[in-house]
Amino acid sequence: MPSAAPPPAALTARTAGPLRGRVRVPGDKSISHRALMLGAVAIGETTIEGLLEGADTQATAAALRAFGASVTRTGAGIWKVRGVGVGGFLEPEDVIDYGNSGTGARLALGLVGSQAISATFGGDASLRNRPMGRVLDPLRRMGVQVLARSKDRLPLTLKGPDITLPIEYRVPVPSARVKSAVLFAGLNTPGVTTIIEPTPTRDHTERLLQAFGAAIEIELGADGERVVRLEGRRDLKPQQVAIPGDPSSAAFLIVAALLIEGSELTIEAVLLNPMRTGLIETLIEMGGDIEIGNRRTIGGEAVGDIHVRASRLRGVVVPAERAPSMIDEYPALAIAAAFAEGITVMDGIGELRLKESDRLASLAAGLGANGVTVEEGPESLAVTGGAVRIGGGDVATRRDHRIGISFLVLGLAGQAPVTIDDATPIDIHFPEFQALMSGLGAHFERAEPAAA
Ligand code: S3P
Repeated sequence: MPSAAPPPAALTARTAGPLRGRVRVPGDKSISHRALMLGAVAIGETTIEGLLEGADTQATAAALRAFGASVTRTGAGIWKVRGVGVGGFLEPEDVIDYGNSGTGARLALGLVGSQAISATFGGDASLRNRPMGRVLDPLRRMGVQVLARSKDRLPLTLKGPDITLPIEYRVPVPSARVKSAVLFAGLNTPGVTTIIEPTPTRDHTERLLQAFGAAIEIELGADGERVVRLEGRRDLKPQQVAIPGDPSSAAFLIVAALLIEGSELTIEAVLLNPMRTGLIETLIEMGGDIEIGNRRTIGGEAVGDIHVRASRLRGVVVPAERAPSMIDEYPALAIAAAFAEGITVMDGIGELRLKESDRLASLAAGLGANGVTVEEGPESLAVTGGAVRIGGGDVATRRDHRIGISFLVLGLAGQAPVTIDDATPIDIHFPEFQALMSGLGAHFERAEPAAA
């Protein structure tokens, strides 16, 4: 049985007054999953501070316990992981349930695939529909057996060989999760596993591997290629990991503050890894008043405080090459584009069709329902901003939290309320969103959940 989703709960956002104050957003999701997983294969006790505490990371924590690691919460955002060593996973007794977590499941396929055990991966109905092939292909080349009822979809069982083979893998599409899954498999593989990235993607895995003492080398080619080499079967040393705020969550607050007249907001301690700042760069090009202060390094990652003031925006053409550094931020950008003067063109974003929902289709439908002119191409979106009356529509979130939050922001900034059909995915991924925005002056109305 897939894990059950909670009954849908509609939520309405109404035009809001200025958002003012200083806030923090929850810890970065990508680093949270990776820190738990690396802690579980290090020898000794890792402490993590600032962990994102949503259902996704809970699923990763529960999975790691099932593989034999000890994972405990000792305070708000503070977690301790006692690892079992590279290659030390036990065979779990039951199906491992990754719930709704695409990131948890994909990274774990790599981490678990190179262990000489069998493990069955399951998830909710939405995760069961998401393609896993791009992670499974390189794992098969390393010698991992995959048994799936439906091609390359969950539920599936992995059976790791006694010894996985090191491979040289040129990642066919820009994907940090594919890269990371292969590197995680490489941890328990004798010899050197090599990843070639024609288009670099977020490098949190590489940074954390370096911190945990892995034998990893990174080389930058003249043509922009990135080559990562990892020598496996080396012990990892436990770490103290501090996780900065998630820029993909901050994105919604930044866009809301830019759009709602009179707003002035500071979001503290946000991750500013250059592979994650494409949205900020784009919003500044659009005329957004965004300043970064208090730049510092936390846990080997660039961090800063983001200061945003309400601004008049103008449409821009977002270069396709920028996509990897803002891949999760296009929904937020599409909302900013709806209020900007002129047309914003986002190209080279076919990958958005493979996220929690087909985000190009979800955005086009939601914008259209709220009076915004939008053109959806196979791999692009063009949004014409500045309609006289924006809002007033009902939005199908397709169980996609970033679609849900984006259209709530549209409702706060628009001229008429917006109702999303289901806010429960937001509770899974960014549970603090509503309270955080209400604390800054936003208004939401929640309908009673429909009977199951
Ligand atoms: C992630 C990488 C991106 C991103 C996802 C998290 C990661 O996915 O969309 O939310 O943690 O590495 P892909 O690697 O599939 O592009």
